[in-house]
Amino acid sequence: MLVSPSILSADWARLPEAVRLAEEGADWLHCDVMDGHFVPNLTFGPPMVGALRRLTQLPLDVHLMIDEPLRFARAFVDAGASVLTVHAEAPGVAGPGWPAPVRSRGEGGAGDEADAAPPPTSGAHPIDLPRLRATLKSLRALGVKSGLALRPDTGIDEIEPALEDVDVLLVMTVYPGFSGQAFLPAPLETIRRAVGVRRARGFDYLIEIDGGIDVAHTGPQVAAAGADVVVAGHGVYRQPDPVAAMRALRGLVTAGYAPGEDGGDA
Ligand code: DX5
Ligand code: ZN
Repeated sequence: MLVSPSILSADWARLPEAVRLAEEGADWLHCDVMDGHFVPNLTFGPPMVGALRRLTQLPLDVHLMIDEPLRFARAFVDAGASVLTVHAEAPGVAGPGWPAPVRSRGEGGAGDEADAAPPPTSGAHPIDLPRLRATLKSLRALGVKSGLALRPDTGIDEIEPALEDVDVLLVMTVYPGFSGQAFLPAPLETIRRAVGVRRARGFDYLIEIDGGIDVAHTGPQVAAAGADVVVAGHGVYRQPDPVAAMRALRGLVTAGYAPGEDGGDA
């Protein structure tokens, strides 16, 4: 699998060293952008992405957990983003009815408050597909790979017509907002469905998994489900040997690509 460590979990007082570690073991560098509105946490914006761009040639995998992401897309592209991922559920991308409350828990800040919020509603949500597709096309027109992120409670059926416009499908295995949360297994089915749709419709998007990934337990599960790329925050930067963790994740074989199987699906 490809590995995209999340810089959010690194020690920002030693950013160049964190980037150097990524260069030794990773394929992309994941940048978690949060606006304190779409999710109950704040992180960083284009200046941080620009700083990372000056530190490395690794592709910068920018995960926008923000409202109205197109307002900021150009600034992230100019800063050096390579993949720009928007949430299907974000205001400005989804239709009315979103966002449902995000259930996040994690380190500090507004997380405690969010714990008190009711869980997100289940079932179909009113995603505005024409608007979603136009958003994804706009990302490609800006010269970056278009990423579409799904919260754990958003299913493939809700966004399937938009997959034609997707270069990277990011399936979240935690509710967005914090690193260090426990992996949720339900989206494993979303990964398997995404593999099936890609094969059936002849698409070539990469399937990226984000949230609670580690080498020992959850990494192998998502590889077996068909993940092409894994994000890991605590699973890399909070480990005694981050480079070894990245290399071990990289060594996990995506289902469909194993030697002796029937030739893969992408
Ligand atoms: C969660 C972020 C994730 C997170 C990953 O909102 O999108 O990328 O930083 O951190 P871990 O791997 O610790 O769950
Ligand atoms: Zn992320």
